[in-house]
This record gives sequence, C-alpha cells and structure tokens, in this order.
Amino acid sequence: MIRTYNLSTEYEKGIAVAAELIISGDVVIFPTETVYGIGADAFDANAVKRIFELKRRPLDNPLIVHVCSMEQVSEITLDVSPMARDLMNAFWPGPFTAVLKKAAGVPDTVTAGLDSVAVRMPDSFAAQAVIEKSGRFIAAPSANLSGSPSPTCAAHAEADFGGKVVILDGGNTRCGIESTVCDLTGDIPIVLRPGSVTPEMIKEVAGRVNVADAVLSETVAREALPSPGMKYKHYAPSANVTIVYGEDADTIAFKIKYMYDIDIVQGKSPVIFCSDYHTSFYSARNVVSLGEDTLQIAKGIFKSLREADARGHDCIYFEALNTDGVGLAVMNRMLRAAGFKTA
Ligand code: TXA
Ligand code: MG
Repeated sequence: MIRTYNLSTEYEKGIAVAAELIISGDVVIFPTETVYGIGADAFDANAVKRIFELKRRPLDNPLIVHVCSMEQVSEITLDVSPMARDLMNAFWPGPFTAVLKKAAGVPDTVTAGLDSVAVRMPDSFAAQAVIEKSGRFIAAPSANLSGSPSPTCAAHAEADFGGKVVILDGGNTRCGIESTVCDLTGDIPIVLRPGSVTPEMIKEVAGRVNVADAVLSETVAREALPSPGMKYKHYAPSANVTIVYGEDADTIAFKIKYMYDIDIVQGKSPVIFCSDYHTSFYSARNVVSLGEDTLQIAKGIFKSLREADARGHDCIYFEALNTDGVGLAVMNRMLRAAGFKTA
C-alpha cells in the first residue's frame, strides 16, 4: 500500500516495508540526517530508472550510493587512497559523500557513465536500518522533483511524490542541507558541493582542500564542471530570489528595504529572509527569521523557501552570509535558488 509510515510510532514496520520494497526492485522515500532521499537498489537498472522518471531528473546527473559498512565501500570502489580513508573514517557515518574511482560492475545508470562513484554512509538510524535490512547498495537522490528545494520533512516529499511512493516519516532532518560531495580521486580533496562537513573540517584531516569554482559562481564552462549536478538550476522556488550583499548588516538592510518598498508600490508580495538578530531592522515588513547562526539557517532554509512559495510571495530578499564554515553551503544553495541574481 502506498502510504506514509510514522517512524516514531511504527518504526519496525516502516523499516521492514522499506527494505522489502528495495529488495523487490521498487523505490521508497526515507529520512537521512541531511534531507529525505528517494532510494532504490543501485544494481537494479529498472528501479534506478524509475527514480529518474519520478524525479524528472536528467539522466546525465549521477546518484549517490548509500552504504552502511566499509566492506560495501570496497565492493564498489578502486584505488582508495590513505587520504580518502582518513576522511571517510573522520566523517562517516555522517553528511559526507566521497567521490571515488568506481569498480567494474557499478552500473552506468547510477554513475551516468562516469568512471567515479559517489558513496555516502548516513548516520540517520532509519537510513542505516533500511540499507542494512535490505542488504543492498541504495542509490538515492534527494526526494524532490528535479529543480525544487530538497525535502527536510516528510510533508515536503509528500507534496512531490505523495500517493506514488511509500514514505518513512522521521520528522525534520538534522542538517537541513544535502551532504558535502568531495572528490577524493586525486591528491587533494576537492569540495564539489559544500555541506555540513565544511572545507575547514576537511583540511583539518587531510592537510589540504580545494573548493570547486562552480560552488559560488556560474561562470564555469559546462563541459568543465567536475560534478554534473552543478549545471542544473537547483533549489528553485517560484518566487524571484535576490541575494543582497553589503559592507555591513546596516547597508544590506538599507538596500533590502529600498527594493522591498518599490515592490510594494508595484503591487508585489515581497518577503525578507534574515538572521534573528536583524528582524528589528525591517520594522513592519514581511520577515522570515532564519536563525541565530549558519547551522540554524542551514537547517531551515529549504523549508523557508517552500513556505514562501506556499504563501504566494513573488520576491525573496536574502541577506548574504559570510562563506566561512556552513555559510558556504547555504550561499551555494541560495545563489542557485536565485539563479545567481545578486544586488
Ligand atoms: O545528503 C545527500 O547527499 C542526499 C541524501 C538523500 O543522501 N542526496 C542527495 O543526492 O543530495 P542528489 O542526487 O540530490 O545530489 C547528488 C549530487 C549531485 O550534484 C550529483 O551530480 C553529484 O552528487 N554526484 C553524484 N555522483 C557523482 C560523481 N561520480 N562525481 C561527481 N559528482 C557526483
Ligand atoms: Mg538533489
């Protein structure tokens, strides 16, 4: 039966159903610590194809393979360097995805024909349980339609796939943004998609780290992109998003108020996404208070984007963040949500 299982009241049943679905070549939506994933047996080409169809995802965008043990990693990868091992040991289980050289036999449907494979060991108990109980490698992208914000609670996944795919409801996810994708095939780790495991944390372990240019800019030739996912407009709400920069918080607030007030005169419905500490700058204007620090902002940002759409806002102004730590991941997502529109 296509339905949602609440893991706080029917955990055993939900996990059993999900594992059975994976084994029988079907797809299932489950929570992880980052965002909800829509998963299938990575070695079942038809099941993986179904994920692409359901998400309307371009076929050249590869999927992350989710595992629950280092033995599984050895089965699907080759030439894992000591540096790569150190990083996996440091950040697994957790919101870190390792791009490694793939072993023969890993299907091209999953890797989009690349000679590497993205592997992640999640720390969410539910995700681990589904992988372990099914005994499979689970290919799972975020459980949203291609182009909409990633789901951080079951209701978001239901909005996109309700009635079509069984969902395990594990409440709100802890991180709120997708895992850090890091290329570990060379001598220096390269962050392809920033997440809760920051470049600073990676450097601490590996001694060195690079961040791909495309993380904060769109001006990279498409063919040269190290990660196929970078070329797609991501996380796009229907509202027009603008990232507002300035020397300090006052300057940013001044610019935002100016643009907001023009929108009002033009009959639009703007909203301001700001830090908890800045709400008073905007007096009676429409404000979404995102949190006190970048971790809190990361946790709630996708939900706030979906809610702004649901409330019918047509313009969102976002106070640019410092790109230290998790700020880099939030700015990566918001610049894409904005189609790189800045002010
Ligand atoms: O937190 C997450 O990573 C979530 C949860 C469900 O685990 N999954 C997720 O998957 O965000 P998805 O498909 O939405 O994003 C995977 C990203 C894409 O940008 C894709 O291009 C990149 O990882 N990727 C996958 N395989 C790759 C590879 N072999 N080389 C480079 N990038 C790769
Ligand atoms: Mg995604």
